[in-house]
Amino acid sequence: MSLSASGISRRGAATAAALAVAGLLATTATAAPAALAAAPTAGTTTSTVAAAPDIPVANVKAHLTQLQSIASANGGNRAHGRPGYKASIDYVKAKLDAAGFTTAVQQFTYNGTTGYNLVADWPGGDTNQVLMAGAHLDSVSSGPGINDNGSGSAAVLETALAVSRAGFKPAKHLRFAWWGAEELGLVGSRHYVANLPTADRAKVSGYLNFDMIGSPNPGYFVYDDDPVIEKTFKDYFAGIGVATEIETEGDGRSDHASFKNAGIPVGGLFTGASRTKTAAQAQKWGGTAGQAFDRCYHSSCDTTSNINDTALDRNSDALAHGIWTLSAGTTEPPTGDTYQNTTDVTIPDNGSAVTSSVSVTGRTGNAPATLKVGVDIVHTWRGDLVVDLIAPDGTAYRLKNSSGSDSADNVLETYTVDASSEAANGTWQLRVQDVAQYDTGYINSFSLTF
Ligand code: TRP
Ligand code: ZN
Ligand code: CA
Repeated sequence: MSLSASGISRRGAATAAALAVAGLLATTATAAPAALAAAPTAGTTTSTVAAAPDIPVANVKAHLTQLQSIASANGGNRAHGRPGYKASIDYVKAKLDAAGFTTAVQQFTYNGTTGYNLVADWPGGDTNQVLMAGAHLDSVSSGPGINDNGSGSAAVLETALAVSRAGFKPAKHLRFAWWGAEELGLVGSRHYVANLPTADRAKVSGYLNFDMIGSPNPGYFVYDDDPVIEKTFKDYFAGIGVATEIETEGDGRSDHASFKNAGIPVGGLFTGASRTKTAAQAQKWGGTAGQAFDRCYHSSCDTTSNINDTALDRNSDALAHGIWTLSAGTTEPPTGDTYQNTTDVTIPDNGSAVTSSVSVTGRTGNAPATLKVGVDIVHTWRGDLVVDLIAPDGTAYRLKNSSGSDSADNVLETYTVDASSEAANGTWQLRVQDVAQYDTGYINSFSLTF
């Protein structure tokens, strides 16, 4: 059998369809083989998702230092209705504007004072699929709010700046947000969602929330909400060898609840608040058992000293991983791609089996439940033929049995195979055996359409 590279090609859906029609209809028992089998097209449709950059924790900490200074200069807090809050908004907005984001400040009124949300859009991507990440920027009035929630605010900011530095061109549209008055009851994020037109709500494909991600005695908690988002974060931590647990310290206690209530898929990360770290948790994560994850939660001691740098670093990197991974367009594998081999393979009369192969690369996950197998065999008595599809792991799928009475010419069929238990990538084979004497033929082409 010949596996020459020139016989194997991968095409986009439109070309593939045209080619399939040409290849399957052009052949008769007497036709010159493969006359219409096109040469492979240059360039494949394979797309790989760019890896997220490492987020420099020093940059995240520099933002925390600035938020601390803002609190210190404004009565020790950055709370709703206080000057430290608006100064925090101004700081974050200036960074984003300089990095090329389209920013908007949304005002609302709560408790008789003006509150602010900051929303920053990264130009480009499919605006019908918006991936959002957000953090509340307000503190309680009793302290500067550096872990709660300077940590999430700074990590979202630094990830947005990393998007700009990378010149990232995601398939989805990216939107970053900093919420006001979370500490008074998710006020800013509720206001944002309530004022988002229904049509725009439907375009938000996910919201990622970051509220307290640098706790000084940290745990590594992942929200148990949208399964794809959850898995994306869990995979990141598994990849760096850090165990995670499901977040249980108060479902609905942060801004993701505003989105979840509107039916938007949500997820997020958390390193713990006032709950106590157990002995088992200290075993797996280090730190101090019997002590709160954050002893300074909602207190004046929630300063830049109230941060675990390792937790802040890991969670910032996980955040960026989530943005890069989840913005890569549809999570469904592309459909309609055809791989084919048009090299002729002679089938020996009443002899051993022969194969034609196609090499599949660049896909993720398993083959579809409706894998289309295009078989074009030229033969003068097709009842002689037994035909199987062989998956990359060697599993055989019977496409056609022999039948002494089927005297017709040729096998020109598109079979549908449930190949969903097979990895998509690898070498797939069409195996053909002629099991009866006298009539002969050859494999004209073999194709797989995913
Ligand atoms: N800002 C939140 C609050 O004060 C902090 C918090 C507590 C939290 N439990 C949580 C955030 C669970 C996310 C998930 O309520
Ligand atoms: Zn918080
Ligand atoms: Ca024969």
